[in-house]
Amino acid sequence: MVEFVEFPKISDDRGSLIPVEFEKFLPFVCKRAYFLTGLQTQLRRGFHAHKELQQVFFCIQGSCKILMDDGKMKDNYEIEGTKAIVIDKMVWHEMYEFSKDCVIAVFASDIYKESDYIRDYADFTKYVGEK
Ligand code: TYD
Repeated sequence: MVEFVEFPKISDDRGSLIPVEFEKFLPFVCKRAYFLTGLQTQLRRGFHAHKELQQVFFCIQGSCKILMDDGKMKDNYEIEGTKAIVIDKMVWHEMYEFSKDCVIAVFASDIYKESDYIRDYADFTKYVGEK
């Protein structure tokens, strides 16, 4: 069951402002933010799950699609505007069909740890099967 977070957007004739108050909008204590820019429209990225990390993912600008797979169910979602998607731990995810102007922001529950990644799909299915 995938959850979404709706961020506020304050727009006027000067542009738009999206305020993200961590305690109000994020379902975890945020320890890291990272941003994806200059995305290749035709390429897919992601192809991993995290053992513990939780993330909230949204497009600051433009849109993309994301495949979410918890080992039992797979679904594809379009991410656009102020709708952010929660990527829970142990969800295999792949992002694709980035619009030309796509800029992504991700808020994460921990610092970067390569040891938290599962980058092999066979390992992922084995891991969720054992849970
Ligand atoms: P990765 O998570 O594999 O990217 P994606 O899921 O978008 O395909 O990260 C790409 C590279 O950046 C990889 O070498 C790890 C590094 N990285 C950091 O050093 N810090 C970070 O916070 C993140 C997310 C990645």
